Amino acid sequence: MRIRLNRDACMGHAMCAAKAPEIYGLDEEGYCSSDGVIVPPGLEGKARRGAAYCPESAITLIEEDAN
Ligand code: F3S
Repeated sequence: MRIRLNRDACMGHAMCAAKAPEIYGLDEEGYCSSDGVIVPPGLEGKARRGAAYCPESAITLIEEDAN
């Protein structure tokens, strides 16, 4: 699973990092910095939760083949 961030939509609400700090980071201006990051195995549910809390729906989680 990979994080896809819509940078135009991210407004720096930081809910993603608050709900799933193991997965989502913020840059120095407070915007999500996790675009392209692979979600560690076992943390998919947490990644979904963090994404769901984004008020701008800026985060999409891409399911990738494990092969
Ligand atoms: Fe941005 Fe949404 Fe997180 S606006 S900082 S992706 S909660």
